[in-house]
Amino acid sequence: MVEGPSRWVIVQLLFIFAAAVPEKLMGSQACTDFQSASFLRGTNLRVQFLLFTPSNSGCGQLLSISDDLQYSSFNASLGTKIIIHGFRALGTKPSWINGLISSLLKAAPVNVIAVDWVNGATAAYHNAVENVTELALEITSLIRKFLALGVPKTSIHLIGVSLGAHVGGLVGYFYEGSLGRITGLDPAGPKYTRASREERLDPGDALFVEAIHTDADNFGIRIPVGHIDYYINGGRDQPGCPRFFSSGYKYLICDHMRAVHFYISALEDSCPMMAFPCSSYADFMAGHCLDCVNPFLLSCPKIGLLDNGGVNMEKLPTEVKVYLATARTAPYCVYHSLVEFHLQQRRTLDTNIEITFLVSNNSSFRTSINIPKQQTMGKGLLTHSVPLCQMERVTLKYLPKIWRSKRDETPVIGQFCTAPLPVSTSEKMFCLPQLLLVTRSNPQPLGLTIACV
Ligand SMILES: *[C@@H]1O[C@H](CO)[C@@H](O)[C@H](O)[C@H]1NC(C)=O
Ligand SMILES: *[C@@H]1O[C@H](CO)[C@@H](O)[C@H](O)[C@H]1NC(C)=O
Ligand SMILES: *[C@@H]1O[C@H](CO)[C@@H](O)[C@H](O)[C@H]1NC(C)=O
Ligand SMILES: *[C@@H]1O[C@H](CO)[C@@H](O)[C@H](O)[C@H]1NC(C)=O
Repeated sequence: MVEGPSRWVIVQLLFIFAAAVPEKLMGSQACTDFQSASFLRGTNLRVQFLLFTPSNSGCGQLLSISDDLQYSSFNASLGTKIIIHGFRALGTKPSWINGLISSLLKAAPVNVIAVDWVNGATAAYHNAVENVTELALEITSLIRKFLALGVPKTSIHLIGVSLGAHVGGLVGYFYEGSLGRITGLDPAGPKYTRASREERLDPGDALFVEAIHTDADNFGIRIPVGHIDYYINGGRDQPGCPRFFSSGYKYLICDHMRAVHFYISALEDSCPMMAFPCSSYADFMAGHCLDCVNPFLLSCPKIGLLDNGGVNMEKLPTEVKVYLATARTAPYCVYHSLVEFHLQQRRTLDTNIEITFLVSNNSSFRTSINIPKQQTMGKGLLTHSVPLCQMERVTLKYLPKIWRSKRDETPVIGQFCTAPLPVSTSEKMFCLPQLLLVTRSNPQPLGLTIACV
């Protein structure tokens, strides 16, 4: 694009003005915000580094690579979080960025750097991808300035969204994996699924690499890229996101952006976002993966800021897929409980039972489990937004397959048991003491009395 001289002068003036103002007005209100690509168009990447600190949480201070940092409020004795956004189709400031900055600052006393590369992240996706190396080099130079102040490499944490996750991977690669942590929030899939490890985020890029997958069948990457890879609700489609194209842009990016909103919820710590290693989400929801003994030696990983995701081991295994379910809306996190029904007598057909937990205000949480024919036990996971020990009642209902010609008239009699995840073998399950007759008519609620520990 050819630009007229007057426009070029304005752009230059704006650029000089933007760079000069914060230092002149240091101490007063000199806040810098994200640029808008539709306004400052050009072939320059025009990266801005905006610093937010505990003493200065609502106001971005522009850091310039060419200045030294002593006039900024960067605090070398605190950890540093660097947020890198991804492709910006519309060339606008990411809507989630203020929320992420403020939840990071509430969660820990840290320096937060928001990397604004909106100008290079817009136009076509492949243009943005081509700008990734130059951007990574600029971030690498910024980190070099921090290290020169005596900041330890281990205190640097890169948080990259979508394409930004691979930018973080590249920065980590330039530091040969010696930086502390990289968190990839739904790392981008297109152009990266088959990329080499040097080009994409991988477990070698930092001492601890984690990724949260929410749109692996579309904009996100399908393969694991970290030490721990969280596949939320299976990592593809998110509850509460529109399923139809008529919902427009929201439909397109809802699953992808959910990773960011989960992460913000996890930082706000409303309930633990604990996840469990398993071979697939279906196996997880069927109750086949109930603890973290293998490979995490008991401790289950949690989304948030705990070191190594709260996993306590000297050498982390890599590319471990872990699963968790969530609610449809913020704060998203749920508790997972194993529910089991033990038949007194085998049946000749599969038996489906609907299990509902009720809280005192009649809020309910429901799932159904299957007892395969000729077996005596069926199980599954029931997810709920209040802890299991706060459940007051449970109902069980028989769901016969009415279209079946064959019938099994054996009454469904057995015992109901439940336990919160992780279920360790040493812990006893809670079982209702009486044998239950489960029928298809509306069931009577049974009292649950599980002690909170
Ligand atoms: C930097 O952080 C440390 C640790 O929280 C604190 O004691 C110190 O006062 C901070 N320095 C400045 C200049 O804010
Ligand atoms: C990088 O970003 C600029 C600014 O948006 C854009 O003009 C360019 O096409 C992108 N790609 C490359 C390879 O420079
Ligand atoms: C019922 O209580 C739970 C937990 O206290 C709460 O999350 C939920 O919003 C309540 N539901 C209603 C309908 O009041
Ligand atoms: C819950 O349901 C029971 C039975 O239908 C009813 O008696 C009770 O008033 C309800 N409680 C609340 C808080 O709505």
